Amino acid sequence: MTKSPIAGAGAAAPARRETFSSRKLFILSAIGSAVGLGNIWRFPYVAYENGGGAFLVPYLVALLCAGIPLLFLDYSIGHRFRGSAPLSYRRLHRAAEPLGWWQVLICFVIAIYYAAIIAWAAMYTWFSVTQAWGDDAEGFFFTNYLQSAPEAGLSFDYVSNVFFPMLAVWIVAIVIMVAGVNKGISRANAVFLPLLVVMFVILVVQSLFLEGAMEGLNAFFTPEWAALKNPSVWAAAFGHIFFSLSVAFGIMVTYSSYLKRKTDLTGSGMVVAFANSGFEILAGIGVFAALGFMAVASGTAVDEVASGGIGLAFVAFPTIVSEAPFGAVLGVLFFGSLVFAGLTSLISILEVIVAAFQDKLGWSRKVATLAVTIPIALISLILFPTTTGIHLLDTSDAFVNQFGILACALVTVIVVSAGLSSLPRLQKHLNKTSTIKMGVGWRVVVGGIVPVALGYMLINEIQTKSTEQYSGYPAWFNGVFGWGMAGALIVGAVLLSLIPWSEKSRLHDAEYDEFNEAAERDGDVDNNREKVQS
Ligand code: ALA
Repeated sequence: MTKSPIAGAGAAAPARRETFSSRKLFILSAIGSAVGLGNIWRFPYVAYENGGGAFLVPYLVALLCAGIPLLFLDYSIGHRFRGSAPLSYRRLHRAAEPLGWWQVLICFVIAIYYAAIIAWAAMYTWFSVTQAWGDDAEGFFFTNYLQSAPEAGLSFDYVSNVFFPMLAVWIVAIVIMVAGVNKGISRANAVFLPLLVVMFVILVVQSLFLEGAMEGLNAFFTPEWAALKNPSVWAAAFGHIFFSLSVAFGIMVTYSSYLKRKTDLTGSGMVVAFANSGFEILAGIGVFAALGFMAVASGTAVDEVASGGIGLAFVAFPTIVSEAPFGAVLGVLFFGSLVFAGLTSLISILEVIVAAFQDKLGWSRKVATLAVTIPIALISLILFPTTTGIHLLDTSDAFVNQFGILACALVTVIVVSAGLSSLPRLQKHLNKTSTIKMGVGWRVVVGGIVPVALGYMLINEIQTKSTEQYSGYPAWFNGVFGWGMAGALIVGAVLLSLIPWSEKSRLHDAEYDEFNEAAERDGDVDNNREKVQS
């Protein structure tokens, strides 16, 4: 077999790659990544804006037909090629490296705004105690707390109540990241995730006992079939599933690269996917029960009770906190859950970026973490705790998530399936390690149905987003921070892939050779395994 040119040749080999010390810790961390702001903050408002109850049908279709199959694809690539996203795609094929960097850059954009929402939630945990919003939760959120400027733009007027909690979020995240996969990421998940589940379940049960909760649940669970004819609703569902499951933007590729060689990939994936969606639907139940309560209290219909949009959770829940018995406790539980869920996802998003630079440049964990996370934290702290931060966040979320992740997923499945014909070998790898075997159906879904569905939705998204001004923001704003940002990520990905892999990089990793030798001994080999390329 072909060995890396410098493996074992006395060159300064990178430190051994960390692995999760147990499958349980991997599953916990993968659930910690998946269950995040997407589940508690994003899902209810995306559902609310896309037909309420109507959203559940495309959501489930997207989960089963794209989310889970692509989760397995991510696992197979990360586990088989044992690297961050750029390294794994590079090992899959030299020309595929930009895909990995595209995913890294998507994570960069998500990370810089994600920290802001965790910071809002941290402040709202405290505001719940004092019920600082009085009887106008919406006005308080936008005007008093965020001091949101009436016009979208780029201001450098800082809001201290957002800036300082954001700074704290970044310090906590960086400390966890520096400690590494086992001492940092696994431990943080082992503490935060159980706490989150307990807090959130208590909260949802409490919200179900509120008067009007059933009205909210009826709105949530009643399919509105007409909305299913709208391709935007489907695009929102697919975009949301990818974001929520953490697929197609590098996270699961990176996390699965830290798994031991013999690990049940598909079995673990099923646990992660259903835990994530279970949590998400629970969050939908909690928020819609609250909306039902608000609707009954104000004598209006559920879909008119609150304005949708990214502030929904920060408007609906404070209202219920004010009215409900033991409201302060409920508020602390809700916003505290948001903080814990957000932190465990933020560290997984950052891990994609840290691991990529660590692999490419052969840096130590500590150097890579500090060199990568401190500049990201600074950019985040410059752009988001300002009076225009929410508009920037809204546009970044819409263009990089709903649009960018879909585009990246589409290009990835086309390259991996049609371009490189890699699905059979990845299927073989999945089946070699896993309990739930993938048949030809998996290849048909990933290589056929997913690209067709994503292609259709993407064309539609491009049409919608280019004919309407997103959120009514000025054209220049959407042009620069929406389209411009989405396009810049692709250019940036190509440029990053052109940086040569240094001799110290993990491309020349003796461990990968060892992994392949062991796999070969067990008969777990591909027909056309790529040779390590310098
Ligand atoms: N999967 C993460 C979330 O749902 C990114 O927020």
